[in-house]
Amino acid sequence: MSAEQQAVAPVEVVVVGAGGMGRAWIGTVLKAPEARLVGVVDVVDGAAERAVEDLVPAAERASIATGTDMVEVARCAGAEAVIDVTIPAAHHPVTADALHAGLPVLGEKPCAATLAEAVSLAGHAEATGTLFMVSQSRRNNPHLREARHLAEELGGAGIVDTQFSRAPRFGGFREEMAHPLIVDMAIHAFDAGRVLVDGSPVQVTATSYNPSWSWYEGDAAATVTITYDSGAVHTYSGSWCAPGRETSWNGEWTLSCPRGTVAWDGDTPPSARSEDGTDLSGRAPSEADRWELDASLAEFCAALRGGPVPASEVHGNVWTQAIVEAAVRSADTGRTVALAEVLDEALAQARTLDAADGRSRALEAWTSGTSGLAAG
Ligand SMILES: NC(=O)c1ccc[n+]([C@@H]2O[C@H](COP(=O)([O-])OP(=O)(O)OC[C@H]3O[C@@H](n4cnc5c(N)ncnc54)[C@H](O)[C@@H]3O)[C@@H](O)[C@H]2O)c1
Repeated sequence: MSAEQQAVAPVEVVVVGAGGMGRAWIGTVLKAPEARLVGVVDVVDGAAERAVEDLVPAAERASIATGTDMVEVARCAGAEAVIDVTIPAAHHPVTADALHAGLPVLGEKPCAATLAEAVSLAGHAEATGTLFMVSQSRRNNPHLREARHLAEELGGAGIVDTQFSRAPRFGGFREEMAHPLIVDMAIHAFDAGRVLVDGSPVQVTATSYNPSWSWYEGDAAATVTITYDSGAVHTYSGSWCAPGRETSWNGEWTLSCPRGTVAWDGDTPPSARSEDGTDLSGRAPSEADRWELDASLAEFCAALRGGPVPASEVHGNVWTQAIVEAAVRSADTGRTVALAEVLDEALAQARTLDAADGRSRALEAWTSGTSGLAAG
């Protein structure tokens, strides 16, 4: 294949994990011009085959390899990359094995089950020189980008506030977790906050609680304050058992800037009011705008064809998981937690993991937990 053909050829991908979100990814790949589905894998016998049967048009099924072993299916299908949509506990082994097989990975959030495993994966990406991007899909929202754009016109967001109120009845693991809101949902808002403000997050103060009417075992509500080295602050207040006046799934946002305020309801284009009372409307998305999973996939494929390193490449994404880990620790201990503290501990644990695994020594070169990460 010539370099020119390679530059536009679709990236041939295997989707690993054929659960609820894996099925959403299969649908996304089938529609995307930049990618081609060549394989589906699930550790449960028959699950990959069922997903292909349910989602892929009959005429295309024969060209899609299936099975329970990711590396074997990828080799057999001649895949170029992997989309890891397994459960969080499997993200570390699946992603590390793919990277060491020479396969770039687009992984669902969270990066890994623990911050230590996430840092370890940053090392595996370095050791193999292979791209690992985390799909933090809610940051791929044209309204969010427009909110940032309006804030820049007003001097840049210095205080960002998110209010989140929903009342879903999921059943299952979320109703048994110690911190369902912070770990499973607020991670999206923490990550979106990083799109809106400049700098790297440095410390987190959090309180979590469970209302008397809660149907969750763990804390379904929390208030979290994230401070950045630029001086910006992101305040988040959310509840997953707030029936009645529910917000959008993205939450409701207020961005305070030196010359005005930006407001975004999470669903429609943001708007702003400047200090002299002038109202500004955010641009409505165009047909060309890419959203959520589709935008993650386009960015990942572009990077594999010589485009820029994605902002959610593992070394950039680890900050978001560090905010989550610091928020949980702050809520549990009642003290403000520095990201350097959780990242230094994670680095030590990741080195232990990597020594036992034997495939990556990249973290030996990191001088601290924050030193190896991309600027926030
Ligand atoms: N971006 C979002 O808005 C969003 C929404 C939901 C879920 N997610 C994320 O997507 C991921 C998957 O979530 P889900 O809801 O689809 O879970 P799920 O439990 O429905 O599906 C996970 C699948 O992975 C398979 N699996 C587990 N270990 C495996 C392994 N080692 N190799 C191959 N397959 C394996 C399981 O058999 C299962 O079919 C999680 O990381 C979750 O946090 C993201």
